[in-house]
Amino acid sequence: MKPYYVAMIEKDVYWVGARDWNRRLFDALIPLPQGTSYNAYLVVGKEKTALVDTVNPGFHAELCDKINCVGDVTKIDYLIMNHAEPDHASAIPVIMNASEKAVLVTTKKGAEMAATYSKVPEGRMKIVGDGDSLDLGGKTMRFIEAPWLHWPETMFTYLNEDRILFPCDFFGAHTAVGLYDDEVKDLMPLAQRYFGEIMMPFRRMGAKAMEKIKGMDISIIAPSHGPIYRNPERILNEYRRWTAGETREKAVIAYASMWGATESMVKAMEETLSSEGIEVRVFNLAIADVGDIARELVDSRAIVLGSPTLIGGMHPLAIFATSLVGILKPPAKYAAFLGSYGWGGGALKQAQEMLHPTRIEIVGAVDIHGTPGDEEMRRVAELGRQLAGKIKGAGPSIASTSAVA
Ligand SMILES: Cc1cc2nc3c(=O)[nH]c(=O)nc-3n(C[C@H](O)[C@H](O)[C@H](O)COP(=O)(O)O)c2cc1C
Ligand SMILES: [Fe+2]
Ligand SMILES: [Fe+2]
Repeated sequence: MKPYYVAMIEKDVYWVGARDWNRRLFDALIPLPQGTSYNAYLVVGKEKTALVDTVNPGFHAELCDKINCVGDVTKIDYLIMNHAEPDHASAIPVIMNASEKAVLVTTKKGAEMAATYSKVPEGRMKIVGDGDSLDLGGKTMRFIEAPWLHWPETMFTYLNEDRILFPCDFFGAHTAVGLYDDEVKDLMPLAQRYFGEIMMPFRRMGAKAMEKIKGMDISIIAPSHGPIYRNPERILNEYRRWTAGETREKAVIAYASMWGATESMVKAMEETLSSEGIEVRVFNLAIADVGDIARELVDSRAIVLGSPTLIGGMHPLAIFATSLVGILKPPAKYAAFLGSYGWGGGALKQAQEMLHPTRIEIVGAVDIHGTPGDEEMRRVAELGRQLAGKIKGAGPSIASTSAVA
């Protein structure tokens, strides 16, 4: 007998997921300081049994063993796939092989992806759409289409009788710690970090999903990463703000500097913004944690980018940070640039070109020749005051939700 802990989160609803304490990177990009978890849930009805999502590669045997602690993996009737990404879908072939009668339940797009990724034959799939439900016998699973959270096929599942929402990646957090939200210290910064790296690019689709679940009676939110919310209002409140793109009087300064010229201008900018009452977060890109930057971008109204010129363009770390802004699509409205060059320059031009598609307004730039003197520092302070004025003038900003992500 293996020493597994299978938590019952409601009567006949079990957490059969896995904790991955050793994972240190997600998407080969974002550090995971506390690892993560891949939550899967077994719902046992009087007539039928359903498994909601599966786990990452490396945890298939653990998933089957856990299911067998409270049920029988060879007797699963429905495998509900909320999302086709391998961290939740990789064990689909294992479950479908173990239980001959298992039918994969997913959206139309999900069925295409399950055929591609998991080689599930068409005859073993049941396509569901908004409002469809499955009766397990005293447990009714209802489906809510919620596309692009975080791939095109995603949906949420709601268990009517127990008022549990299974939203897969949405409302998640990367941490292996704890089972319930109230057991994890400083959970909200972790949830915000996760939102920044995983959900922020799809913020507008997130807002639509929030609209869809508004008014639903939800007693538990059981996502597929991190703790289960038995206090759902906590995360719902944050997601209302984050998906709306609500920003604070706050600026993220991200910079690279080889010999300290750009860095000294960053320091002057930080001091000016702080003295104007703006909340500031400074990241030296040579040592920064990308997940921390993503977290702070969730509610920052401005971004200051600092880069010297290196071979006619920005420093590669500043290029990386700027491309992240393009990918993560933070709700920031304003930007400023600080830089230094030795001869022909070029970093500023590249920053302007890279930021152009984001439609973030570049309030100004100070790009200087060599090391900054009093006059240059005065210009940085002036730009800082101008930026602070913009930040404060914008009022509590709600980014537009009209366009599709
Ligand atoms: C590897 C390297 C490449 C550089 N390439 C350029 C360049 O192409 N054009 C330019 O104007 N200056 C170039 N410079 C000069 C720097 O932009 C200049 O020293 C600047 O003041 C450095 O700012 P920092 O102190 O913030 O690192 C280069 C410097 C280094 C170390
Ligand atoms: Fe995902
Ligand atoms: Fe995931």
